[in-house]
Amino acid sequence: MTIGFTLWFTGLSGAGKTTLAHLVEAELRARDYKVEVLDGDVVRTHLSKGLGFSREDRDTNIRRIGWVCEVLTRNDVVAIAAAISPFRDTRDEVRARIGRFVEVFVDVPLEVAIARDVKGLYRKALAGEIPQFTGISDPYEPPLNPEVIIRSAEEPPEASAARILAALERLGYLQPARQLAAD
Ligand code: ADX
Repeated sequence: MTIGFTLWFTGLSGAGKTTLAHLVEAELRARDYKVEVLDGDVVRTHLSKGLGFSREDRDTNIRRIGWVCEVLTRNDVVAIAAAISPFRDTRDEVRARIGRFVEVFVDVPLEVAIARDVKGLYRKALAGEIPQFTGISDPYEPPLNPEVIIRSAEEPPEASAARILAALERLGYLQPARQLAAD
């Protein structure tokens, strides 16, 4: 019987959180886990619609995502959050509420995120067109003790996803894949 947990991705915009969340999701579904991904960009179109990027609004967004993760976790679903979640205190608050919480810091040099600029937002932020943009004109507080650190500029996403799954097995949140097959 599966016991739920929350896998929480944090990192700059463009670090690769969403890509990794969906790669891990696909592998967990293939292993018959119930999984739900809560992506900041998506949540901001409904549950957090209308919120901006002040510290207060970001904290509200993260607490909402955290609350949904808490509910899913206690119903034995694997909740995967992918939001910048720039403030350490707020992440730690969500961690404390959920308990079964695995934090993945998707670490990318700011220059790499700027060079990638998948959504074209860094260019605008650097031109002063987006105020309070994380990493440019707003802070990002890296976790001090994340369970997993992924350096997304240094390996392909598939390799990072495999390392996250291995960490979940090592931490006892997932059965090793080969044992599952033998059941
Ligand atoms: S969080 O800070 O509240 O965790 P969240 O992950 O939901 O942020 O949303 C971040 C996404 O919103 C970014 O990937 C980007 O597409 C967009 N965005 C728009 N304005 C900003 C901004 N000022 N800072 C960061 N991201 C922004």
